[in-house]
Amino acid sequence: MIVKEYIKDFEKLGFGMFVHFGPYSVIGRGEWAKKTHNISWDEYMKAVQAFNPKPTWAAELAQAAKEAGARYITLTTRHHEGFSLYDTRGLSTYDAPHSAAGRDLIREYVDACNDVGIVPFFYHTTLDWYHPDFNTNFKSYLQYLRDSVEVLCSEYGKIGGLWFDGNWSKPGEDWEEDALYGVIRKHQPEAIIVNNTGLSARGEPGNLQLDSVTFEQGRPTPMNREGMSKYFAAEMCHTLNAHWGCGHSDFNYKSLPHLIETLCACRKVGANYLLNVGPTGEGEITLLQEALLRGIGDWISLGGSSIYEGKPCGVSCEDAPKNFALRIDNKLYFYVHDLSITGDSNVTVAGGGAGDKVFTGVPGRIKSVKWTDCDGNLAFTQDGDKVTIGCTGCTSGKSLVVRVAEAEIE
Ligand code: GLC
Repeated sequence: MIVKEYIKDFEKLGFGMFVHFGPYSVIGRGEWAKKTHNISWDEYMKAVQAFNPKPTWAAELAQAAKEAGARYITLTTRHHEGFSLYDTRGLSTYDAPHSAAGRDLIREYVDACNDVGIVPFFYHTTLDWYHPDFNTNFKSYLQYLRDSVEVLCSEYGKIGGLWFDGNWSKPGEDWEEDALYGVIRKHQPEAIIVNNTGLSARGEPGNLQLDSVTFEQGRPTPMNREGMSKYFAAEMCHTLNAHWGCGHSDFNYKSLPHLIETLCACRKVGANYLLNVGPTGEGEITLLQEALLRGIGDWISLGGSSIYEGKPCGVSCEDAPKNFALRIDNKLYFYVHDLSITGDSNVTVAGGGAGDKVFTGVPGRIKSVKWTDCDGNLAFTQDGDKVTIGCTGCTSGKSLVVRVAEAEIE
């Protein structure tokens, strides 16, 4: 099996922020608003002419990602309605420089990411509701798509990768994928290339130029890499509420414990977690979204920083299947869920329990174990590959959802 180093590096990014942003953000009814609400083009152009993000939108986005502990952002450079946030350099006038924004928003995005050390990725639609050739002259449309992608790959310096979405709209068509990916490889030999397989074909690998499979709105399951000629990474993308693009009346937010557990569940199987936010038309991340993101970041900095480099290592837990371990060199990180809070029983009502947790498949002899969020060693016993760790509850003042213990192995 071919294993490319840049794909391994992508896996170490671990956690990314997906961003759906475009004229639909002004409308506030999701990124499919044009289609689902049957909005005429005349009407939609009003949103395009109102789409003028505030000057600091990109810097705020990059900062929010940073505070969330995300190491990359994947931003919609063009979504299904065909509008480009970048300067298409003459390919179309339906782009940010020719709209109310009057400037190249992707330039601002890439600069803001580079300023704070976030890796910029580009989402790009392959289907197009606007371009007339999409339904009448598909071959010529594909040339337009390639030319568009060539602009993105040659004008913004080194990028993390391209994330395509839309081939599922014409399953029987020849999308000339080799030619499209060839354009990327010409300029960005180490860019991660993804082509979303959508809700009906999660985890399916495709063209060998692709580098990662997708699990859109899925559940993290281990990849079956048997028989594959190339090592594919895996990435699972989720919405923070129920829409990708801004939904003004979408209250259906996931909880912070759910987000922390999902991040851990992805890393348990070696998949990246790509968590979406939908800023408003001005480019504002709402307070609620920002708070949830920051909560994840706080959890990572308190004790969860092994999510990035940690690799699955075949350790499982008899007592609770959600528990697992990751390995970094001679360190193991045990992820323990649902620990109770230790303290006066009148005020500590958290669920779960403390006590012995039995892990099997442990590679090597353990020298010591301690929580990553506080000092002091934990009691443990080892019998071959079976390790029993005396997991203490969180001391009052903490309730970590998932608590991580670090062990050194010989
Ligand atoms: C779907 C949707 C799209 C969204 C994407 C994100 O393919 O069509 O709106 O961008 O999922 O994974």
